[in-house]
Amino acid sequence: TKIALFASGSGSNVQAIAEAVEAGTVPAEIVLLVCDKPDAYVLERAEKLGIPTFAFKPKEYESKEAFETDIVSRLRAAGAEYVFLAGYMRLIGPTLLNAYRNRIVNIHPSLLPAFPGKDAIGQAFEAGVKISGVTVHFVDEGMDTGPIIDQECVRIHSGMTRDDVQTAIQKIEHTLYPNVIKNLLNGNREEQN
Ligand code: GRF
Repeated sequence: TKIALFASGSGSNVQAIAEAVEAGTVPAEIVLLVCDKPDAYVLERAEKLGIPTFAFKPKEYESKEAFETDIVSRLRAAGAEYVFLAGYMRLIGPTLLNAYRNRIVNIHPSLLPAFPGKDAIGQAFEAGVKISGVTVHFVDEGMDTGPIIDQECVRIHSGMTRDDVQTAIQKIEHTLYPNVIKNLLNGNREEQN
C-alpha cells in the first residue's frame, strides 16, 4: 500500500514508521513526506531514509484551500492511498478531508478525549494526572476528535519531569504507530497486536 506521511518537526515517528517499513513489518511504501516547515529536522531524516519530500510554506499560498489543493495533487501523483500525520501541527481542512475521507490518521500524545490540541504532554503534566498516554485516531474536521483506533497508557510517576513524561510517551508512540498502521493496512481494525 502506498502511504504518505505528514510532519512539521523532528520526525522521530516518521523515522520509526520508515524503519518498520524497511524491516518488512509494515506492508507499505512511503511515497511522499509532506512538511509545512522547510527547516524542520524531519526533512533531513527523510533525505537519509530516501523518502521523497514536498516541503512548502503555507504563507506562500493564498489560502489553506490553495495549499491543500496542491498537496492533494501531489499525493495523487505519488499514488498515495493513506495519509498518516506524525506531528503535523496543522488542522486538516475540507479539501484534504474530502479527497482522503476516512484515510487520514493522526497520532496524539494523550489519552483522547483528554488534552486535545497543542502541547498535550505539558497539559497532562500541569494537570497532575497519573496516567496519560498515546492515541491513534482517524482525522475529522475537529481538533483531535475523530474515531479512536487504538490507545496505550503511560503511568506518570511522582518525581518525573515533563521531559521524562515526553520520553516515555514517545517511546510508546514509536511502537504503537507502526503497529496500528500495519493492522490498518492488513484490514484488521480491532486486533491491534
Ligand atoms: C508526537 O508526540 C506526536 O504525538 C505529536 O507530535 C509529536 C511529533 O514528534 N502529534 P516527532 O516529530 O515524530 O518526533
